Amino acid sequence: MDKKRFHDKVAVITGAARGIGFACAERFISEGARVALIDIDEKGADAARKLGSGAVFLKCDVGERAQIESAIARFPKTHADVDILVNNAAVPCRGDILALTEEDFLHALKVNLLGAFHFSQLCARQMMQRACEGNPPGTIINIGSINSVLAMPEATAYCASKGALLQLTRASALALAPYGIRVNAVGPGSVATERNTESLGRVSARTPLGRFGTPEEIAGVVAFLASPDAAYITGEIIYVDGGRLVLNYTAR
Ligand SMILES: NC(=O)c1ccc[n+]([C@@H]2O[C@H](COP(=O)([O-])OP(=O)(O)OC[C@H]3O[C@@H](n4cnc5c(N)ncnc54)[C@H](O)[C@@H]3O)[C@@H](O)[C@H]2O)c1
Repeated sequence: MDKKRFHDKVAVITGAARGIGFACAERFISEGARVALIDIDEKGADAARKLGSGAVFLKCDVGERAQIESAIARFPKTHADVDILVNNAAVPCRGDILALTEEDFLHALKVNLLGAFHFSQLCARQMMQRACEGNPPGTIINIGSINSVLAMPEATAYCASKGALLQLTRASALALAPYGIRVNAVGPGSVATERNTESLGRVSARTPLGRFGTPEEIAGVVAFLASPDAAYITGEIIYVDGGRLVLNYTAR
């Protein structure tokens, strides 16, 4: 594998203080990119320090457009021209249709869906302009979920937000295709991160590969979609779920 596929590229990753977002940041840095880590949690500063001088941290709530605009305006010159945007930040949000409050529902939509909309729109305008000036087109990757298509009653708002994110991916891909800008999504299954507190028994009972995925396994597919190897892929979602979505019975 060419270790420096992203030499001289700038990747912006939301929700990168930990988990899958951090693994993506680590992967892009290891392949030569400069990376801007965006997170509401100031621990993102430590995460960026761990990654070395190519990484910067900007504190930002992706649910607030003004904060995104301010974060983008604060990108150092080295990180100002965004080639790769990964919309990863999300909140889980528990509650079924009977219990869910409007406030919780809106919060999930704001972070998980509107955040991706705002970041994509602001970065895509810049990518479009740069593409029109003859630069290589940028690319956007949204982190969906198997819950983009699989429903869970106790995660109604999360499922609604991730389902809509899939359609945002497809519609944005069509709008940006004339500029060569590709928009895709990755849909993880159960991944071992701090936020996933499910037991291995529960996960392996419904996962043919019989284990959690790792954040690095998600990051590898994100990197593939951002790379020239995926130059003819747009409007697509790749599920990285250990076979979960094709399962029609209990695995074990
Ligand atoms: N872990 C899984 O099993 C799993 C499964 C399917 C999909 N996903 C998706 O993968 C992505 C990452 O998941 P994870 O498990 O690494 O989650 P995580 O909770 O470990 O990390 C999410 C990060 O997003 C940040 N964040 C939350 N709200 C924010 C906001 N308003 N503004 C900016 N940053 C914010 C958090 O501070 C955190 O650093 C999410 O989109 C999630 O829905 C995860």
